[in-house]
Formats: sequence, structure tokens, C-alpha cells
Amino acid sequence: MASVMKSLYLDKSRYVEAFRLYIKTSTEHQSMLQFINTKLPEIISSIENEKSSLNILGIGSGSGEIDLQIISKLRVSHPGAEVNNDIVEPSDEQTIKYKERIGKQSGLDNVTFSWYKKTCQEYESQVTNDRQNKKYDLIHMIQVLYYVKDIPATLKFFINLLAPNGKLLIALLSGNSGCSILWKKYGTHLPPNDLYSYITGSEVEDALNSIGAKYQRYELDCDRDITECFVEGSHIGELLLDFLTETCEFKKNAPSDLRDQLLQDLKKDPVSSTKHGKLIFNNNMSVFVVKNDKSDT
Ligand SMILES: C[S@@+](CC[C@H](N)C(=O)[O-])C[C@H]1O[C@@H](n2cnc3c(N)ncnc32)[C@H](O)[C@@H]1O
Repeated sequence: MASVMKSLYLDKSRYVEAFRLYIKTSTEHQSMLQFINTKLPEIISSIENEKSSLNILGIGSGSGEIDLQIISKLRVSHPGAEVNNDIVEPSDEQTIKYKERIGKQSGLDNVTFSWYKKTCQEYESQVTNDRQNKKYDLIHMIQVLYYVKDIPATLKFFINLLAPNGKLLIALLSGNSGCSILWKKYGTHLPPNDLYSYITGSEVEDALNSIGAKYQRYELDCDRDITECFVEGSHIGELLLDFLTETCEFKKNAPSDLRDQLLQDLKKDPVSSTKHGKLIFNNNMSVFVVKNDKSDT
């Protein structure tokens, strides 16, 4: 009987378990934090310095780890300014974690948080319907554009929400990452889902060019240890494989020819390489910093 593969997104608790592991096994957050420490200060230095308050918008902020690091840099570059941080995040579970994180972090006086339990698309509709004209000094979309359907229209919409000298920060998997290579080869054989698309930095760059946006691109080296994917019976390995293929119980449910071929490719350069006896997946990321088209900095 043919195996039935279903999207990982249809099993919420397995998805969350796999996502946590996915973050744990990669240097993704370290690479982002290094970017925030080394490049972000200069990027945000052009936000008007005399402003007494800054408006920040996070799309798909998750549990807020990256958001709070960004805020701490803003507090250094704009001492004394109030920070109004709006968060568009559809997941209750992630929002609870974000709030717990705030409770444990010091130095957040003068920072207010407003949550919108919405998807990016729902937030766009709300802003449009309410004719809201709030402008943002910084909007970030970190690892979230996969969930957006019309990338050029969404980017155009959020660029229009930027204040003068405001910046839109986008981060996602690079077009040269292992995922991009696997998605191109196997995407049509994996279970379709309505929520997630195989978007990488290449598609975002095309979208930015198509709408005539002014941007700067950075490439971040990022690794993921996938050794466990090849350890027989490893639950960790199975969850990682589920996340990489976005398929629930891929190892068990994929047809054997697809499974064997994909596992072969997963081991090979440029998808992965062996370092210090570990199998390391190429998880490189692209970061784009988009300017407000009307700004001169
Ligand atoms: C991969 S996580 C990234 C979280 C965080 N930005 C980070 O880098 O750690 C993606 C987040 O986007 C949220 N999300 C999923 N679909 C979304 C949508 N359509 N609009 C906005 N956020 C979405 C998820 O709930 C999740 O918190």
C-alpha cells in the first residue's frame, strides 16, 4: 500500500517539538545575534537620533529572543527614547514564551509591548481597513516570509509603513542553503500545505528588485548538526528530518525510493559536509536591510 505523507504543520505539537530542536541544533540564533551585535548598530544609527520615541514592529516574532536583542541595541543607539514595540504573532504558545522572557529580562523600562494575535496577512487587512497611518522606525521579519503568499505585495505594504529613515530587516534561508537545494529537487514530491512556501533569499531578492526597493544584502554562515538523522531509531534525528522535509514522520511514511534518495543527498556537498566527525548541514541565511524609498540615508 502507498505510504501517506502529511505536512508537519498538520500535527501542531510535533511541529513545535521539531521546531525547538531545529533551533537547538543550529547556529541560526548565534549567527543572527552576531549580525545584531556587529552590523545592526550602524544600520539603526541612521534612524533619527533626536526622536523621543521609536516605533518597532515585529512580524512573526516567536518567543522574542531576537526581538529583545534588537531592542537592547536600539536602547544603546537612542538612549532615553521610549520604545513602542508592536508584535504580530499568531501563536498563543509563542506569545506566552515571549511574555515570560520579558519578565526575566532587565533594562526594559521605557519599552511598551503591544501584541496582535494575527498573521501578517490579517494584520495587513486590519491596517488597511482601519486606515491606520502609524509609521515604524524598524520593522523586522525574521524567518517568517515562508508563511506569506504574495511576497512582492507584502514587502511593498510594509515598506510603505516605514517612517522617514526607517528600515525593514528581513532574514531567511539563503538561496545557496541546503534547504534551497533539497526544496528545488524534492519540493513537488513532499506533501503540499497551504501555510508554508519554499521561499529563500533568492526569491526575496527578486521580489525586492521587482518593486524597485533600495536594499543591502548580507549572507550569514550558519550550520546545523544533522548527525542524528543517520542514527538508527533516533527520535531527535526523526524530528530533524521532519522539519527539514516539512513532513510528519518522513522516515516512516515517505516512499522508500524518495526517502533513500533524499537521505543520500542530505549527506552530500553542498547540502552538508563533515566537520570534526559530525554531519553539518548548510543552513546559511540571507539578511536584507530595506530602506524607506523616500529616505536619503
Ligand atoms: C520560524 S519562527 C521565527 C520566530 C522568530 N522570528 C525567530 O527568528 O526566532 C516563525 C514565527 O512566525 C509565526 N507565524 C507563522 N505564520 C505566520 C504568519 N502568517 N504571519 C505572521 N507570523 C506567522 C510563527 O508562529 C512563529 O512564531
